[in-house]
Amino acid sequence: MGNLIEKRIEIFRKNLEKNNLDTFMVLVEQNRYYLSGYTGEDTQFDETAGALFIKPDQLVLATDSRFDLQAKHESPLYEVITYKKGLEKEIPTIAQKLNTKRMGFESIRLSFLQYQKIRKELDEQSQPDVKLMATENMVENMRMIKEESEIDALKNALKIAEDVFYEFIPHLKAGMTEKEISWWMEKQLREAGADALSFPSIVASGPNSALPHAIVSDRKIKEGEPVLFDWGVKLKGYCSDISRTIFLGTPDHTFRKIFQTVYDAQQKAIEAIRPGMTGKQVDQVAREHIDGTEFKGKFAHGLGHGTGLAVHENPRLSPLREDLLEPGMVVTVEPGIYIPGWGGVRLENMVVVRDYGAEVLNKTDASKFEVLD
Ligand code: CO
Repeated sequence: MGNLIEKRIEIFRKNLEKNNLDTFMVLVEQNRYYLSGYTGEDTQFDETAGALFIKPDQLVLATDSRFDLQAKHESPLYEVITYKKGLEKEIPTIAQKLNTKRMGFESIRLSFLQYQKIRKELDEQSQPDVKLMATENMVENMRMIKEESEIDALKNALKIAEDVFYEFIPHLKAGMTEKEISWWMEKQLREAGADALSFPSIVASGPNSALPHAIVSDRKIKEGEPVLFDWGVKLKGYCSDISRTIFLGTPDHTFRKIFQTVYDAQQKAIEAIRPGMTGKQVDQVAREHIDGTEFKGKFAHGLGHGTGLAVHENPRLSPLREDLLEPGMVVTVEPGIYIPGWGGVRLENMVVVRDYGAEVLNKTDASKFEVLD
């Protein structure tokens, strides 16, 4: 991993120069990991496990005593500094040590309050000349293009998610609650080696499946209804994301029609994917297919999103986004149709953009919905 990180830092340093910055402070957990291998977790949005400071000729990882041994072990390329009074108070010392003039920060992560505190510390500790420069997506843009080892890591995370699901669905029975099913699934995913879930699993039955982001409830699954699953696992930092919809009992005409429409929309979009297309164009392929049927307007969310160290990352496949697809990007393709009162169907696969088109990472294709007796 050391070589990989060195290479990333080298590329990132060129970006620094292009953006006229001499130092960059990294606070986003996934960005920190990507550029250092350090796995310290922030736990919640107003806490931090530390920051990287990247200069053309120096690398510093600042953290507190909870993490300093871990940081030294995981990030041998970095000089580890342990602060005692919080990161904000330490920054003037770090800026002086690094001879910083223009420090880039991630505007999506540094809170306004933190910004104010850092500014105040710099001013009071006689460094008013240090400029704090807001940036956007500097590391995230690098993370969009996956290295082959990252693609393998995503495949491994997806394999656990798929294997466990297809092993356990034959055991589903009418009368189990959504909560029971999701806990059963979570237990088996963890036993199969998952480090964590990518997000709380969705198990949505009957009318609940009409809510794209349904929360698991005490509702019992019944015969004659769809059950929508959306889940994924984290493995060595990388997140899988998959959706399948099954039917309990003999599927009726409505379900067959909706399922086929969603499946065809997904296949068309996957076949259309090429480098150079925008996220909007790919989204349009699936959307036009659905809107050409009686289910016009019932696909109300974007078609997909990047996935990697974060389960939702750029690029987006969405009517609102012009993100350009490039080889090495990994995106989900997840059309759905949602009918209030009846339910919904969503099918989600993960694909990697290649020179020739899309390579599907899933081993299972959703061409046949699972029917349970
Ligand atoms: Co997704």
